[in-house]
Amino acid sequence: MTADALIAEPEVVQPTAEWPQEAIAQCVATVVRSRRATRAFKAQPLGRDIVEEILADASCAPSGANIQPWRVYVVSGAVKSELTDVLVAASRAGTAPAPEHFPEPLPDTYRARLMDFGARYYASLGIARDDTHGRTRQTERNYAFFGAPVGLIFSIDRRLKAHSWIDLGLFAQSVMIAAKARGIDTCPQVAFAQFHAPIASHLHMSPNEVTAFGMSMGYGDPEAEVNQTRMPREPVQDFARLLGFPG
Ligand SMILES: Cc1cc2nc3c(=O)[nH]c(=O)nc-3n(C[C@H](O)[C@H](O)[C@H](O)COP(=O)(O)O)c2cc1C
Repeated sequence: MTADALIAEPEVVQPTAEWPQEAIAQCVATVVRSRRATRAFKAQPLGRDIVEEILADASCAPSGANIQPWRVYVVSGAVKSELTDVLVAASRAGTAPAPEHFPEPLPDTYRARLMDFGARYYASLGIARDDTHGRTRQTERNYAFFGAPVGLIFSIDRRLKAHSWIDLGLFAQSVMIAAKARGIDTCPQVAFAQFHAPIASHLHMSPNEVTAFGMSMGYGDPEAEVNQTRMPREPVQDFARLLGFPG
């Protein structure tokens, strides 16, 4: 099915004898649960058609009042390499304002998880806690899209409010799931947001756009240690309250 057909005539999933409900559920759960932030990729290229199919699937994501506020720039080949060069240079120049992804102080629960993430992540790369040079070099790998053949830059109209950023997040997760369903790996990357100015200039964004995050996309290298790290999740009973059910 082409990307256009998906948009024009989205198929509703109907269980059949060959594809019963349980099989659909298992398939979706497997895709959702096997998606991982992937930070080492094979050299295998990713074709334009498959990227368009993924984006067409993701465009079925919900958005408040269906305003569909997402915009995405997909870069590969020389365009991606040039963007990487620009961003690595900007990162080394150290002139961009420091990112404020989290509030300071970060509440203890979140800080503990952030520290746990850092410990697992850098251990998988063999980078010591006090190795600031190694950490800086690894942060720079973000701008090379971790070696992925395709990079995406997600932007949104800066006049919109937080409500519409929710839509953008839902769209991004849909991109990652549609990719994983095709055996393609991704890494969402807020690291790009710090460099909106050079990105906007390089991609000729409109003045109303702001870079929200980027994403690496390609076939993950399963041998790479960094891809074998698993980030734990809080159990359902700890983050959800289920009310009003019998029993
Ligand atoms: C909005 C967002 C921004 C992220 N930014 C980065 C980033 O800049 N660089 C990076 O390596 N990973 C980034 N990640 C990946 C997270 O570290 C990763 O999703 C998290 O540790 C959970 O691991 P998992 O995705 O493998 O389950 C980001 C994830 C999200 C959702």
